[in-house]
Amino acid sequence: MLSTYFAEHKERFLNELFELLRIPSVSADSKFKPDMRRAAEFVRDKLTAAGLDNAALHETPGHPVVYAEKLIDDALPTVLVYGHYDVQPADPYELWNTPPFEPTIRNERIYARGSCDDKGQFYMHVKALEAMLATDGLPCNVKVMIEGEEEIGSDHLGNFVAANRDKLKCDVILISDTSIIANDVPSIEAGLRGLSYVEVEVVGPNRDLHSGVYGGAVHNPLNVLCQMIASLHDEKGRITIPGFYDKVDELTPEERAALAEAPFDEEEYKRDLNLKAVFGEEGYSSPERASIRPTLDVNGIWGGYIGEGAKTVLPGKAQAKISMRLVPRQDPDEITELFTKHFISIAPPTVTVTVTPHHGGQPYVTPTDSVEFEAARRAFREAWGKEAIPTRGGGSIPIVALFEQELGVKSILMGFGLDIDALHSPNESYGLFNFYKGIETIPYFYKHYAELKKTGVEA
Ligand code: BES
Ligand code: MN
Ligand code: MN
Repeated sequence: MLSTYFAEHKERFLNELFELLRIPSVSADSKFKPDMRRAAEFVRDKLTAAGLDNAALHETPGHPVVYAEKLIDDALPTVLVYGHYDVQPADPYELWNTPPFEPTIRNERIYARGSCDDKGQFYMHVKALEAMLATDGLPCNVKVMIEGEEEIGSDHLGNFVAANRDKLKCDVILISDTSIIANDVPSIEAGLRGLSYVEVEVVGPNRDLHSGVYGGAVHNPLNVLCQMIASLHDEKGRITIPGFYDKVDELTPEERAALAEAPFDEEEYKRDLNLKAVFGEEGYSSPERASIRPTLDVNGIWGGYIGEGAKTVLPGKAQAKISMRLVPRQDPDEITELFTKHFISIAPPTVTVTVTPHHGGQPYVTPTDSVEFEAARRAFREAWGKEAIPTRGGGSIPIVALFEQELGVKSILMGFGLDIDALHSPNESYGLFNFYKGIETIPYFYKHYAELKKTGVEA
C-alpha cells in the first residue's frame, strides 16, 4: 500500500533531499561546475534506485540533463516529468539565518537554497515514483527529465528537446515548480508569464570626473539613466514603450471574475512584505498585476561611487538590468526590439546608449478544460479533500512554451510552494507539509490521468 510505504520511508525521503540540498548546484556561477555534475549524478542514481530505466546524464554545451524512463506499455499514455536541479546563487550569504547549503528544520520548514525551487519539488516526483513502483506499479509510462540550466534561461535545453523529440514523446508534461495559494487553499497555475531581460549602458564623458569641477556642465549619465527609466511608466502605472501592449491578451470580465474567486487578503500581503501600500497599474487588483499584466522592473542599477563615505564624482557611465514580464501573445524577441528602439530614441544627444539582450522566454497558458487539468484537479480533491482553484502565475519557466512548440504537448503546473517560501531570496524554505503532501498527491494524478484517458471521460 502506498500510504504504508510513505509512512515507512518518510524519514529516508527527507534525509535524501537534505543530501541533495547540501550540493551547491548554482548554475550561474562557474565556480560550482563540479557541484552541478555531482547534483546531476545524485539525481541519476536516485532515479535508478527508484526503479526507473536508462537513467543517465546527457551532456550539453552547458550543464548536463538527467533523463530516465519507465516504459511499461505502448498502449498506455506517457507522462513526462520535468524539473531542475540547479538553484539560484545564495548571495548575500550574511542574510541567511543558517547556511544556505546546510539544510535545517525550523517551524516545520526546510531552510536551504533550492528547498522549494526546485529540488524539494522535483524530488517529490522521484519519491512518488519510487513508492508507486515498489507497491501497486505505474498506470502510465513515465519519462523524467531534470535539467541544470533553468535558473539561467534553459539555453541548451531547447536544442536537447529538438534533438530528442522521439525519446521525449509524451502525452502530457507534469511539473512541480510553482505555488499554491495556501495550504488550506490548493490551486493550480494555468499560466506563466514570459520574460524579456536586457542590460542597458549609458556612456557620457570618457572618464569619471570631479563633480565640482565639471558638475553642471557635463550631462551626468546616472542622472540621464534615472530619467530615462522613470519615463518608462506613466502616472497610471502603464509602460510607455510604443507597441508594448499591442499583443497583450486582455481577459474577458468573466475570466477576470473567475480569477477573483481566489482568496486574496491585501492586509496580510502588506504585512508579510512590510509594505506601506500596494502599488501597480490602475484598474487591476494586486493578484492581476502580478499575473495577467505585463511589467517592467529595474533589477539592478549601478555606476559612480557606492563605497563607504562620500566621494564627489560625476560617473562616466551608468548601467542597469531591466526585466519585462510578458503575458500571452507578447513575444519576448519583439518586446526586446520595441524596448531597444524606444530606449535609444529617448536618449538625449549628450550620451551614447547601448542595449544588450539577455535570455528571454515565451509566456504560457494551459486550458483548464482538458483531461490533463481535470486529472490534476481530481488529484488535489482526493489528496487534500478540497477543490483546487485555477490561477495564473507570475513567474516564468521558459521551457514550458518550448515544450509545446517542439513536442506539441501541454504542461500541467502542479506546484506545491507558497509565497512565503522566499524563492531566490535569503532563507528560502519549503514546508515539510508541502513536501510530504506533494508526494502523496502525485500518484493520484497518475491514477486519474490513466483513468480519464482510458474511459475518455471529458472534464
Ligand atoms: N520556479 C520558478 C518560477 C516560478 C516561481 C513560477 C513561482 C511560478 C511561481 C523558476 O525557477 C524561475 O525562477 N524562473 C525564472 C526565469 C528564468 C529565466 C531565470 C523567473 O521567473 O525569474
Ligand atoms: Mn524553479
Ligand atoms: Mn527559480
